Formats: sequence, C-alpha cells, structure tokens
Amino acid sequence: MPATCVVGLQWGDEAKGKIVDLLTKQNDYVIRYNGGANAGHTIVRGGQTFKLSLLPTGVLEPRVTSVIGNGVVVYPPRFLEEVGNLRQAGVSVGANLLVSHHAHVIFPYHLEEERLQEGAAAESAIGTTGRGIGPCYQDKVGRLRGVRVGELLQPALLRERLHRIVPYKNRLLRSLSDDARTFDAEALFQEYAAYGEQMRAHVCDTSEILLNGLAQGKNLLFEAAQGSLLDVDHGTYPYVTSSNSSVAGVWSGSGVPARYLSRVIGIVKAYTTRVGGGPFPTELHDEMGERIRQAGREFGTVTGRPRRCGWLDTVALRYTAALNGVDEIALMLLDVLSVADQISLAVAYECEGQRLERFPADAAQLARCRPIYETLPGWRCDITQVRRFADLPRAARDYVEQVARRVGVPIRLVSVGPDREQTILVSPS
Ligand code: GDP
Ligand code: IMO
Ligand code: MG
Repeated sequence: MPATCVVGLQWGDEAKGKIVDLLTKQNDYVIRYNGGANAGHTIVRGGQTFKLSLLPTGVLEPRVTSVIGNGVVVYPPRFLEEVGNLRQAGVSVGANLLVSHHAHVIFPYHLEEERLQEGAAAESAIGTTGRGIGPCYQDKVGRLRGVRVGELLQPALLRERLHRIVPYKNRLLRSLSDDARTFDAEALFQEYAAYGEQMRAHVCDTSEILLNGLAQGKNLLFEAAQGSLLDVDHGTYPYVTSSNSSVAGVWSGSGVPARYLSRVIGIVKAYTTRVGGGPFPTELHDEMGERIRQAGREFGTVTGRPRRCGWLDTVALRYTAALNGVDEIALMLLDVLSVADQISLAVAYECEGQRLERFPADAAQLARCRPIYETLPGWRCDITQVRRFADLPRAARDYVEQVARRVGVPIRLVSVGPDREQTILVSPS
C-alpha cells in the first residue's frame, strides 16, 4: 500500500483531520497537496484538541515526516504561528516538517486584494475565508508575480522581485478602492526575508524526498484540504476554492505520480454542510437545520461563520465518489443525526420537470435542482459510546447501509464522536 489519499466528498469540513490522525501511525509521510490556511482540521485525542490550518495533521506525530507540497500556498506568519502553538502544547516540531521550495507564498497584498474583491462582489461574493488563497493562486498561474518559498531564501532575488511586484499591486489595489491599504516594497522584503530565515531548515525539494521514500518502500498518506465539490475544475464553479481539492491535485500538488495511489478513502459527513456562497440543494432553512448546526457545532474552524446545514445528498456523493475513484467511505458525525425523528436522503433531483440522477457540477444548473428525498426513521438515542457496528440501533445501521447502497461504495468506518476512540470499524459483510 504505498500511497493512500484521504479526500472530502462534500463541501469541506467532513472531519478529514480525524481520519488522517487515525491513519498517521501506519505511514511514514503525511502530505498536504492543495490549499493553505483556508483549511481547518480538528483533531481530538484523549480530550486534547488541536486545530491545524496550514500544517499537515501528521505533524502531531513527530516520528512521521509531514510535508507541505508544492501545490499548497503558504502564508509564512501563519506557518510560524502554528509551529509555535504546537511547541507550546508540547509537540516537538523540527526536521519532521518539510515545506516544498516550489510552494507559493501569500503576501499581505493578496489578503487586501481578496478583501476588496469580495466586498465589491456583494450578492455574488464567493464567501471566501479571507486568507489570500485565490489571489495567490492567480499570481502563481499568471507567472509574472508569483513568489515561491525557495525565493524567500535568496535575499537579492527576493528584494528585486518585490520591488517590481509591489508597485504594480499598489496600483491594482488603489484601482479597486480609494481606501485600499498599500504596501512598502522594502519593508515587505525585510519582513519576508526574516520569515525565510526562520523557515530555512524546513525548506527543500519535497518531491524528490517523496519519490525517494517510495523507492525505499515507505508509505505515503495524502491529506486533502477542502472537499471535492469545492475543486476548482470539478466542483460547483465559481463557488469553489482555487485549487484541486479532489485527488486530481495529488500529482500536480506533490510531484508524486497518481499511479502510486493505491487506496482512496472518501470522507463523508452523515449530513451536509457548506460555508460561504453557492447552490446547496438539500440545505435546510428550518428548525431541523438549526438543530443539526447546534448538535454538530457547525461553526467554521477558520472564520467562526455558522455553516449552512442540510440532509445528505447521494446524487452529489455518487459524483464525487466516481471523480476520486473512492475505494471506501468513512461516514462521520453519525451521532449528530440522533437529533432527528426522521432522516431524509436525497436520491435524485427534479430539474425543470425532469428527474435528474447525475450531479450537475455547474452552479447555475445546480441552483435550479430540487432534491427528491427518501425518508428513513431516526433513532433518537445517544450513540456516542457505541464501538461495534452491531451495537448501533437498527435505524442507524439501516441508514448507514442505505447510504452505502445509494452511493455504491462500501462504508468501512463510522464515526460517533470527535475523539479517536469514538470510531466503529465496519467489516465487509
Ligand atoms: P475537516 O476540515 O474535514 O478536518 O473537518 P473540521 O475539523 O473542520 O470539522 C469536523 C468537526 O467535527 C471537528 O470539530 C471534529 O472534531 C468534529 N468531529 C469529527 N468526527 C466527529 C464525529 O463523529 N461526531 C461529532 N459529533 N463530531 C466529530
Ligand atoms: P477544510 O479543509 C469548508 C470554502 C470557503 C468558500 C470557498 C472559497 O477545513 O475542509 P477560499 O478561502 O478557499 O478562496 O474560499 O471555499 N472553503 C472551505 N469550506 N472547509 C474548508 O476547508 C474550506 N476551505 C475553503 O468557505 O466558500
Ligand atoms: Mg475544516
């Protein structure tokens, strides 16, 4: 089993962090390949809670090498802050954390650009996390103004680059708003060269290290950020993030050829949540939605925004399971559905008088779709102490089995609480 990928099959926050943490011990490398500090992965171990945004979850296990791949966008102050927080919490972080020299760097002008663009978009705003992700990826693919982590270690080059880039950015920002914040190239250079020095020991050619690891028979675990429905190519464009958050990003975002992926685990929340704008056919605007939000503590890890909540959507899941070539599903937060007397499951859509079985990954068409539900009985009891599938109430087992049947992928793990222990392994029947 050389390489496994843990990937979200919805709109993010499926509890990927918990599963990556559970699998970390069986691996030698844990790799983030996309996104940046827009992610918020929560890990609960024996009552202690860790929240990671930019660093791979593997960093909690010093024996494992954690890698920030070239496909990630790095905000150096956040990197240093997270490392500092972990050390304060008693986690040793040193040579076990590597950052690709080819990962791109987020600057404060990216944050300002995003703030002004999102503010101006009003109704059609994407509802981003405000972490500078989109503007940084734009500069990466635009090529003229992208700065890579390796350049932070070359002061003469970095100074020359910033003295060319910053005046352009200031003109752009002023054109977006008279109140725009503008920046001093020399001050930014000094600040970022200092970050480079602090990060130097972690920066290297991570692709080469991973390929060498594979050649030596080491095991790799890829940790996706966001969910597949937020993938810039395959998600509900334009209400997506700016990277490939499905397994499509593994190759480009790490330098490890996709052919090495031997296991893809799709992470699915037992209901659906979405943060930010964009269509969401099974969204609940009623008291039930609020009950799920409270029971699941559905408030963003990064921004604190209330997450939009709704029923599980097997139309969307069939699409993302196929897109990622998912081998198995981990069904998370099943305990939260204990608040429901009856549980609905979207099995198809109704769109302009037609029954639709396949997911339209296009925001405009998806917005016209109405879910067709199948309704199942709830179980209405606490299941957070259950550790064996057979000990779940009948209605909960039926729900899990029905989801697997509708999506067409086996469910091998059911999670009934945030802690590592609150996990049920499901053997193949
Ligand atoms: P990620 O971004 O995919 O890693 O997910 P988040 O960490 O943003 O959100 C998942 C939340 O659910 C976190 O607060 C987890 O601690 C919590 N969680 C994980 N599994 C379970 C579960 O089975 N039940 C409950 N109630 N909470 C869970
Ligand atoms: P994890 O890894 C949920 C959403 C934002 C917004 C859209 C674009 O914790 O699952 P961006 O800042 O990326 O340009 O915002 O994507 N978004 C997430 N939603 N979980 C995440 O990460 C997310 N990362 C970004 O809310 O709608
Ligand atoms: Mg999250």
